[in-house]
Amino acid sequence: MPPRSPVKLALLFLLFGYLCQLDMNEPMLNMKRDTIHDENRQGESYAPVCDDPVEYSRKFYIESYGCQMNFADSEIVASILNDSGFGVTRNVEEADLVFLNTCSIREKAEQTVRKRLTEFRKIKKARPGMLVGMLGCMAERLKSKLLEEEKLVDIVVGPDAYRSLPALIGEAEGGQKAVNVLLSREETYADISPVRLDSNGVTAFVSIMRGCNNMCSFCVVPFTRGRERSRDARSIVDECRDLFEAGFREVTLLGQNVDSYYWNPLLSDPNNQDNNIGQLHHPVTFAGLLQMVAAISPLLRVRFSTSHPKDITDEVLLAMAGHENICKYIHLPVQSGSNRILQLMNRTYTREWYKAKINRIREIMPECGISSDIIAGFCTETESDHADTLNLMEYCRYDMSYMFYYSERPGTLAQKRFRDDVPLELKKSRLEEIVKLQQDMSLQSNQNDLGKTFKVLIEGDSRKSADHWMGRNSHNKVIVFPKKENGLDKGDYVKVNVKECTGATLIGEMM
Ligand code: SAH
Ligand code: SF4
Ligand code: F3S
Repeated sequence: MPPRSPVKLALLFLLFGYLCQLDMNEPMLNMKRDTIHDENRQGESYAPVCDDPVEYSRKFYIESYGCQMNFADSEIVASILNDSGFGVTRNVEEADLVFLNTCSIREKAEQTVRKRLTEFRKIKKARPGMLVGMLGCMAERLKSKLLEEEKLVDIVVGPDAYRSLPALIGEAEGGQKAVNVLLSREETYADISPVRLDSNGVTAFVSIMRGCNNMCSFCVVPFTRGRERSRDARSIVDECRDLFEAGFREVTLLGQNVDSYYWNPLLSDPNNQDNNIGQLHHPVTFAGLLQMVAAISPLLRVRFSTSHPKDITDEVLLAMAGHENICKYIHLPVQSGSNRILQLMNRTYTREWYKAKINRIREIMPECGISSDIIAGFCTETESDHADTLNLMEYCRYDMSYMFYYSERPGTLAQKRFRDDVPLELKKSRLEEIVKLQQDMSLQSNQNDLGKTFKVLIEGDSRKSADHWMGRNSHNKVIVFPKKENGLDKGDYVKVNVKECTGATLIGEMM
């Protein structure tokens, strides 16, 4: 992997979206940061915290939607654009290029982007030379149809085709519409150093794989992101080490299904070239990768998302238990508690299997935080299926969940095979029950922490007051506590005793 350019290292980016309000129309309850799909960050644009020393004559503006992997991709895109002479701006009015990195997961996600596009119309009218590009999953799903439907759009690029952006921009500047939505079996952008967007300077996201081979019947991701492929383990470890050396103290390893990470050095690199983590002679599994990243420094916390219940192994759980700096938190989406619905969803596990997984996690790590994703009102769901979901949630005692009502996506197996027959009002009322139960359980989970002391990584000022720090414990719970005049800074670890709580936050005092 080539060394990071000082220009890129100099670009640290400001966290903005956390201050935005949650859109209550969205069928999702976001009580904490979701490492996968953070509603508070939808539409977030880049904001450099320090000026880029390079004077770029042309500027790009980029807004990101969807899951954390899409946000991580925007950082790759920024890197590619920097290299071809475009500097980032947060002011869309001065941009030569405007990009929306889009999401297709639910209909609402696509509507949000289409609405946003209409807002660019006026700007483009005033500055006809400005080019508008659609990136990401919606670009992949709709392909050139997007150009027909949205006249404003000049460039359409799918998630595996970002290397072709400079050429596509050239084509579009010549007056042609430009499209590249080819999916790849190999592309992982392993050699591209992302320009950090999410920068509190303490926590960062690192993509370890792309695509998904699971065919959950409700899900559009396998169609928009293509086949699963794992990134070179050495480039992952290098990126994490660079982050650590730049002052970061937490990395979250990202993939749609991280537990199926598998990288074989001998297949990917027959010469098995040495690099600074030495030669690798064996295939690397996810458990192996976790340990390699954890070995960078005991001061570097390691998180990961998302785990598929069918794939998370004992090896992974034991690696977590064996390393203090691998955070004791697992996001293990269940989707439904009904065996019949799980089968229709093609999730390949039963509620009994899922419960056994939860038991195993708690056996190996009794204090492990566990969260979930849940879909209400999938095709044919009955009251009894819904009741199964509620009672499975109670069994699992999730600390937190992301909850949605089912949104039919064109081209998915469910759309082809099943009727979306649960009326919207019913989907919404079931979702409400699920949300209410989760709120009660989240509050209960936080109340159980009263009086306990946790090691907390300080991420920055609390949202509400600069007199308080905000950080997280290993279990991914947010803790807010008063600053004392003792020279602490973000990136430091402190012991915090929990005094009070709400359903979303622990409130404590430094020990
Ligand atoms: N790879 C992850 C999830 C990716 S999408 C996993 O397998 O767990 C994030 C979440 O969006 C999913 O877990 C699911 O709960 C939700 N989701 C996906 N497709 C959806 C749809 N069509 N309607 C409603 N929610 C959906
Ligand atoms: Fe979608 Fe299932 Fe893949 Fe997750 S595992 S991205 S829900 S197909
Ligand atoms: Fe992510 Fe949305 Fe694509 S959740 S993978 S950006 S469809």
